[in-house]
Amino acid sequence: MRLAALVLGAGLSGMFGGSAAAPEDDRRAYVQFFQARFPAVPLDDYVLGSFMLNAAGRRHYEDIMAFPPFEPDIDRGRALWETPFPNGRTYADCLPDGGRMLAGTYPRYDAEQRRVVTFEMLLNRCRTDNGEAAYRYDDRDTMGVLTAYARTLSDGMRMAIRVESPEAVARYEAGRAFFERRIGQMNFSCANCHVQNAGRVMRMEVISPALGQAPHFPVFRGGDALYTLHARYTRCMEQVRAEPLPMGSETFNDLEYFHSYMSNGLPLKASVYRR
Ligand code: HEC
Repeated sequence: MRLAALVLGAGLSGMFGGSAAAPEDDRRAYVQFFQARFPAVPLDDYVLGSFMLNAAGRRHYEDIMAFPPFEPDIDRGRALWETPFPNGRTYADCLPDGGRMLAGTYPRYDAEQRRVVTFEMLLNRCRTDNGEAAYRYDDRDTMGVLTAYARTLSDGMRMAIRVESPEAVARYEAGRAFFERRIGQMNFSCANCHVQNAGRVMRMEVISPALGQAPHFPVFRGGDALYTLHARYTRCMEQVRAEPLPMGSETFNDLEYFHSYMSNGLPLKASVYRR
């Protein structure tokens, strides 16, 4: 069931028949839904994930973020970022504004490629345009640490995902459909946990609201295990005993598009601690 319908008691966004109004109606409905459930939590705090619901957890997060144990990984990413391609050009040369304040505008729908392009795909595009092989999305020591650094160049920017053309709306809708589809032996959808059961405890973990998740990636779980957003999607699919989709797959890209749009206006911060 669509959240807008659930919250507002009518299929409001459905009335727009796929126009760009639908994503914005969805986003507002999610914000209303969560703010009704957690009235004391300021909107910007949603980027803290489950720490937003727990003062002790939040202090622990802030202590670790003062001296992040994963700093060496971010430095390795910076070294990759700064190493010129064989032709002398760099990632910064390849991207607008040297790649600063950019990650919060991704994923985007690319009309020429007719698909959703993630920030990682953009980095790989720099590589291939400069004669280098693309990195694998699931390779921690290349794409993992490179994004862990490159996204920090956008720390503090507010998420600003655009879903404008009917084709873009179709990819957004595909992402939302996946988010709402029940999967795996446990037969749970992402929404079952991260919307309907947000704030409840599951296996000693507080389930975070879907709102605010995307702006804080990648994360370092336990201070060292690097999880990109797609790695986290994979992990959650395993938890419900579903066959995980490949990281970087089109379905995950569409999911990320929908999932990131929901957090429009929230502040981005890359490479953060999670339990
Ligand atoms: C059975 C419940 C369940 C389902 C279904 C589920 N997750 Fe999760 N998810 C969790 C738990 C538990 C955690 C760890 C606690 C937390 O941070 O929310 C988590 C964590 C996450 C996080 C990291 C949040 C953070 O701040 O670090 C993201 C992102 C996420 N899930 C996305 C998804 C997506 C997308 C789907 C659907 C493919 C999904 N989850 C399905 C239970 C679930």
